[in-house]
Amino acid sequence: LRGLRVVAIPLPANATQRLPGAIIIGVRKGGTRALLEMLNLHPDVEVAKAEVHFFNRDENYRHGLSWYRSQMPVSLPGQLTMEKTPGYFASPQAPGRVRDMDPSIRLLLIVRDPAERLVSDYTQVLYNRRQRNKPYPPLEELLLNHGRIDTSYKALQRSLYHLHLGHWLAHFPQAQIHVVDGDALIQDPFPELLRVERFLGLPPRISSSNFYFNSTKGFYCLLSGGRDKCLDESKGRPHAPIRRSALRTLCRFLAEPNRIFFSMVGRSFAWC
Ligand code: A3P
Repeated sequence: LRGLRVVAIPLPANATQRLPGAIIIGVRKGGTRALLEMLNLHPDVEVAKAEVHFFNRDENYRHGLSWYRSQMPVSLPGQLTMEKTPGYFASPQAPGRVRDMDPSIRLLLIVRDPAERLVSDYTQVLYNRRQRNKPYPPLEELLLNHGRIDTSYKALQRSLYHLHLGHWLAHFPQAQIHVVDGDALIQDPFPELLRVERFLGLPPRISSSNFYFNSTKGFYCLLSGGRDKCLDESKGRPHAPIRRSALRTLCRFLAEPNRIFFSMVGRSFAWC
């Protein structure tokens, strides 16, 4: 690198770190990273690259809003700052804390078939354990207890969307929470993003030419400024197997929670 001069480009005087105007609150494994990266294509959006875990973790919340702000990207006036922390959705403290910060904040909730979400959630923990050479029981062992759904299994609890949404609706009007269909975002990101732009009051700047289907990855990847970006390999990897009978039991169990969720959001999804 000798001879190479590093030139620091000065930021405009009005560029600063701002609290978010919108947050992706969940769901874990719902496509939260894809949604954030896709919204980041918009010139009026600046996003926090890492999950912040401010409202759901006491040890972070204790640092206060100045700490939270320091986790945000630099933005210009008129730009929208966003962060995503999927752990917020199922955190009972998060909704009240978010409202205390900004009662008019806009919230994005990306959902996905909760049975598939659960398997994805299990798969993520399994991979993490494997990396540390730690054993992890088969999914059925965690999910079932004497053939019935074990409701103490955390990944199952995270798939009970109606319970968590209930906490958010106690603090925010429904109109402030936009639900994104995570399965539709996988199939064709553009129409879902158009709806999100509208919800966020952003001029439509993301276009279908920002996406191309990468057949090796099996997912859409992003194109921006001549650069090509796919999400990392932890997104869209093969799921751990689940026995057909266990999946049937899970789907039967989720039917009622799903029905309640559909009536809460006023629309239905083609889930199991
Ligand atoms: P799977 O790995 O189970 O397929 P999150 O970012 O909230 O953890 O969500 C991960 C999920 O995002 C992945 O789950 C994948 O299905 C989904 N996803 C949506 N759009 C994607 C894209 N364009 N590339 C990769 N994964 C995407």
